[in-house]
Amino acid sequence: MKFEKEILCIGAGYVGGPTMAMIAHKCPRYRINVVDINPEKIAQWNSNRLPIYEPELDEIVSGVRGRNLFFNTDIGAGIRAADIIFVSVNTPTKTFGAGAGMAADLQYVEKTARQILEYSESSKIVVERSTLPVRTAQAMERILISDKPGVKFEVLSNPEFLSEGTAINDLENPDRVLIGSQQTKSGLKARDVLCQIYENWVPRGRIITSNIWSSELSKLVANAFLAQRISSINAISSLCEATDANVDEVARAVGLDSRIGPEFLNASIGFGGSCFKKDLLNLVYLFRNYGLDMEADYWEGVILINENQKDRFVMNMLRNMFNTLAGKKICVFGFAFKANTGDTRATPALTVAKKLMAEKAEVMITDPRALGNAKNDLQDIAGRYKLVDDPYEAARGCHAIAIMTEWKLYRTLDYKKIFKSMQKPAFIFDGRNIADHDKLFKIGFNVFPIGKAKMVHF
Ligand code: UDX
Ligand code: ADP
Repeated sequence: MKFEKEILCIGAGYVGGPTMAMIAHKCPRYRINVVDINPEKIAQWNSNRLPIYEPELDEIVSGVRGRNLFFNTDIGAGIRAADIIFVSVNTPTKTFGAGAGMAADLQYVEKTARQILEYSESSKIVVERSTLPVRTAQAMERILISDKPGVKFEVLSNPEFLSEGTAINDLENPDRVLIGSQQTKSGLKARDVLCQIYENWVPRGRIITSNIWSSELSKLVANAFLAQRISSINAISSLCEATDANVDEVARAVGLDSRIGPEFLNASIGFGGSCFKKDLLNLVYLFRNYGLDMEADYWEGVILINENQKDRFVMNMLRNMFNTLAGKKICVFGFAFKANTGDTRATPALTVAKKLMAEKAEVMITDPRALGNAKNDLQDIAGRYKLVDDPYEAARGCHAIAIMTEWKLYRTLDYKKIFKSMQKPAFIFDGRNIADHDKLFKIGFNVFPIGKAKMVHF
């Protein structure tokens, strides 16, 4: 069968994999090739055990893999065959040199652009899909200036707004698809080609276009605003704890104002994930770069409140557990940065686990999906910890439970049974406010929610 379009995606991660699976699912007339430098990851995408856990992803992949979705490591052949190339490689925060800890590390993106230039024998549309600092498209364009006759590249920005755990629904029913292009004739033509792909399932009114830098900046700003809401409610949670107000009641009252809205007002242990902190850091770096220090400080405050929330949480544990955690066993319920994913990038659970170990506690970690990643995250960490599949086993003999991830499972466990197996007095610190606190208190736990009065038996 001759396919209508040949699409390549470079980078088979949390963004590239689900996005391409959705395009393949919605557009049977396109052939989609996903490549990665990591052969193990590609082997997993070709197996029955995908490298990432995402609800409904298995079904979508198994319906299209081998039909019009293919995973392999032949990057050169993939580039040669493609009309459109999505770049979804990782863009972590730099850990070295200028801008370390702040700026994005663009080495993978640049390497990819050079590979595209090297292997291309015809003109292509190159789509930035990873979250990138503003003006990266321009850098890509400069690398992609080709002296091969008949080979020209048009770079578009098409930022990803999917949220892990609900990626399939977000891809299928996006609030919006944003496409940034150069405002030149060829730029607008390339933009229309990408619009047509999304028009296969996204209503035209939800596909919005802009200039390329607005598109790049919009992604950073969207994530900064979302993160800011969480830090705002988390900052309020500390005041609620100090004054016996209830943060859920406050969030409800505030969120019912239609100008504010109810989403993203759940007080928590703090936000994690690969995007929020990285994008905020990018934004702060950009402000500083342009001499806009007051604005940089303002947005940096969102990160500082997030760090403070984790410090506060562990200090609260320490203070209420008689000022010592040394030698005590603490059970951490959940290691993923949110529910319904195995992803542990920037997870607050790691920070909390490290702080507990620094207090010489022994940490028992359990999670239904994230223990594989937890093992990697913890391998170089000094301290005593165990990874345990079964939450009942993990909690046995512990002095306290700290809930770090809002897995449904942690609402529905048999806490009577857990209480019986724990040291007394038994403590529960609910970093997600998901458990039934009154019930836990009645069972005998000393309960410490976020942004609500503690419930203690002594
Ligand atoms: C985010 C954006 O939502 C998405 O649009 C973007 O493309 C990538 O970054 P993601 O990081 O996958 O997605 O998850 P998200 O649901 O935004 O949660 C991020 C963190 O905030 C999680 O740790 C979550 O638990 C936390 N959170 C979220 C809260 O603490 N409170 C809330 O009310 C909402
Ligand atoms: P994201 O959440 O942005 O998708 P991931 O780390 O999950 O980030 O995925 C990025 C993927 O990109 C990784 O699987 C990595 O191996 C891959 N990658 C990085 N550089 C290249 C490259 N030059 N060519 C192909 N794949 C690459």
